Amino acid sequence: MKKFVILAAGIALLTGCGSGSSPLSGPAETVMIYRTNCLNCHGSELQGRMDEQSNLQQVGQRMSQEDIAAKITAGGNLMPPFAERLTPEEIDQLAAWLAEKK
Ligand code: HEC
Repeated sequence: MKKFVILAAGIALLTGCGSGSSPLSGPAETVMIYRTNCLNCHGSELQGRMDEQSNLQQVGQRMSQEDIAAKITAGGNLMPPFAERLTPEEIDQLAAWLAEKK
């Protein structure tokens, strides 16, 4: 029985990640928040659809998780603030995920 549970978890992991190398792979809930709120400007591959700075593929190299959370909360020149659209938990989730993109 125990073996079966482990096996099932392994299969869920494998199938859950679909294309493992896509920049949009990650926790399903976080990716959903990204798709809903950020994809329009930052793209389906995090490649950025506005200026050069909107490319997030390696954002973790230039910004810490705290920097990223602050940016999402307060917005920027062309980026709207998300303080009132997302909860602090959702912003943290996004920031933690993006900080891994190096
Ligand atoms: C209306 C378009 C737009 C939306 C929506 C948007 N962004 Fe942005 N974002 C930008 C632009 C443009 C920049 C470049 C700097 C600036 O203009 O503020 C940027 C910059 C950033 C940066 C900093 C990159 C850097 O190197 O400075 C992060 C991190 C970021 N966005 C994350 C997000 C996340 C996460 C979301 C969704 C919650 C989001 N953005 C939604 C347009 C957008």
